[in-house]
Amino acid sequence: MNFEELILRNRSYRRFYEDFEIKAEVLKKLVGYARLSASSGNIQALKFYLSADRERNETIFRHLRWAFYLKDWDGPEIGERPSAYIIILGDTDIHATIELDVGIAAQSILLGAASMGLGGCMFGSVDRAGLRKELHIPKKFQIPLTIALGKPKETVVLGEVDSSGKIEYWRDEKMTHHVPKRSLDELIIDFK
Ligand SMILES: Cc1cc2nc3c(=O)[nH]c(=O)nc-3n(C[C@H](O)[C@H](O)[C@H](O)COP(=O)(O)O)c2cc1C
Repeated sequence: MNFEELILRNRSYRRFYEDFEIKAEVLKKLVGYARLSASSGNIQALKFYLSADRERNETIFRHLRWAFYLKDWDGPEIGERPSAYIIILGDTDIHATIELDVGIAAQSILLGAASMGLGGCMFGSVDRAGLRKELHIPKKFQIPLTIALGKPKETVVLGEVDSSGKIEYWRDEKMTHHVPKRSLDELIIDFK
C-alpha cells in the first residue's frame, strides 16, 4: 500500500468483525509506532493501556460515545464491536500538557493499523470518570483519547462539503458511511 492509499484507507471505522482476534503483540507493535513518533520537547509523557480481551473490551465499550451525528444509532451491536482498544494516558508526573502529542501518537497508531488491514476510531467523547473507576486508572493519569480497533466491517466513502456547508457524516440505506471533506481550495489560505 503506498502512502496515499494508506491515508485514504485510514478512516474512522465504527463497525467491525468482532470475532477477529487482535493479539497483544499487535497492540504492542502499534504502540511501538507511537513510541517512535514526535513528542513536544521529546518529553514522552504518554502511556498506553491495552485491551484485547472480552471482559476489558466490554468495560471500555460501555464508556464510549459513538458517532455524535448519527442520532438514531447507539453504536455497534454485539458481533460488530471492536476487538481491541488502546487508551492513551497522560502521565502528569512527567508533564501536564500532552494534547498535541496525543494526536500525533493516535495518528501513528491508526496509520499502523491501516497498514495491517485493520481500522479503528478515536474517541474523545468518553465517560472518563466511569472509565477511571472501572479500570482503576490512578488520578495522576489524564485520559485524553481512547482508540477502538478491529477488522472493519463497513465501507466509508469520502465526499466533498458542498455549498450547504454541511460537514456531518451520514449513512445511506446500505449502511455505507459518508464523510464530507472540505475542498483543498477552502483549506489553503493566503494573506496579502
Ligand atoms: C480527536 C478526535 C476525537 C474523536 N472522538 C470521537 C468520538 O468520541 N466518537 C466518535 O464516534 N468519533 C470520534 N472521532 C472520529 C471523527 O468523528 C472522525 O474523524 C470524523 O468523522 C472524520 O472521519 P474520518 O476519520 O474517517 O476522516 C474523533 C476524531 C478525533 C480526531
